[in-house]
Amino acid sequence: LHFSFGEYNTEVIITREIPQINVIAENFLNSIIIADKNTAYIAEKIRGIHNIPLCILESGEENKNWQSAEKILECAHNKKLGRDGLFLAAGGGVIGDLSGFAASIYKRGCRFALISTTLLGMTDASVGGKTGFDLFDIKNLIGTFYPAEKVFIPADVLITLPQNEWKSGMAELLKTAILSGSGELMDLISANREDLKQFNSEKIDLLLKLIEKAVLFKGCIVSEDPKETGSKRILLNLGHTFGHALESTAGLGKISHGEAVAWGMVRACDLGSSVGITPKERAAEIKELIASFGYSCVYPAELSGNADMLFNAMKNDKKNKSNSLRFIVPDAKGACPVTFDSEKETKLIINILKGGIAQ
Ligand SMILES: NC(=O)c1ccc[n+]([C@@H]2O[C@H](COP(=O)([O-])OP(=O)(O)OC[C@H]3O[C@@H](n4cnc5c(N)ncnc54)[C@H](O)[C@@H]3O)[C@@H](O)[C@H]2O)c1
Repeated sequence: LHFSFGEYNTEVIITREIPQINVIAENFLNSIIIADKNTAYIAEKIRGIHNIPLCILESGEENKNWQSAEKILECAHNKKLGRDGLFLAAGGGVIGDLSGFAASIYKRGCRFALISTTLLGMTDASVGGKTGFDLFDIKNLIGTFYPAEKVFIPADVLITLPQNEWKSGMAELLKTAILSGSGELMDLISANREDLKQFNSEKIDLLLKLIEKAVLFKGCIVSEDPKETGSKRILLNLGHTFGHALESTAGLGKISHGEAVAWGMVRACDLGSSVGITPKERAAEIKELIASFGYSCVYPAELSGNADMLFNAMKNDKKNKSNSLRFIVPDAKGACPVTFDSEKETKLIINILKGGIAQ
């Protein structure tokens, strides 16, 4: 698949096996490979016998910070990479976002390619060029737009992905299906729920098809609105205003991104229904689908009494304009943005956060 995101082009190659280094890049000796502890084995396989530095970072959202970005820059500097050098990331969304960010600022921008290793990365994070890291407890506060020139999706590596990470990725796939309305993606997922609850190498063809559809959907949206300045790309944030607030309030890394997004999509349905945008049957259908994959749809008991904290966390969301809160809610065909006055409509939002549907 080929996409053009503003001034950048991205080629996405969906395969089963980990690609060979000479397929990834012609001048592969002029590169560094970035991975985390759990994806280091993939980086080692790619490197093979060649003398390419590996930059192995600590894993997880709690390490999506400046210190990790600096380690990548240090590795490139030690290797004396020029602007024509390649940052090759092998990992999930955290490694991808950090490496893309580091590539975008190293010598004002060097080459960047990505081998995506999580379901979340393969269906969403690897495509579209958002890079960055968390700061001051705010998700992705710092970042750039810097799409990878090539994205490899070797689906076989999902065999080592822990089940909770599979579930986290499935939430972003459900998000894409919801956004694409009642199309083929939704039908395929609905009809194959049991086979999609965990990685199943016998169902790899189904998985490859779903990944391709998700990448195509995201790629097309981002092509139309690469820097989220229009009304298209923002739709990909369905469930994220609520979800990011939950992640931040619980403590970054405590609740997986996907679990938080799934919970956020349920809240988005409640909000959409309460303002007459999400038809009741569609909200019920979406909630049933989310619940059938085992996501928690209720207010997390451990956050009881913290609706105000969640609300304050939402006020930091990057999608907001001053004094307003912006949400994406499902509508009859896909989803649409809605804006609320954060002063006037506090009660409505807090009620939704607590799991109630305001009338
Ligand atoms: N750039 C974007 O457009 C975009 C979109 C969505 C999410 N994100 C970001 O992506 C991040 C979440 O991504 P993620 O869910 O991939 O998290 P992640 O990168 O932290 O990976 C999840 C865990 O799985 C491990 N892992 C990865 N691949 C593995 C494999 N094949 N086998 C064994 N273990 C493996 C990792 O080490 C980590 O512990 C968040 O920071 C989120 O903000 C970015």
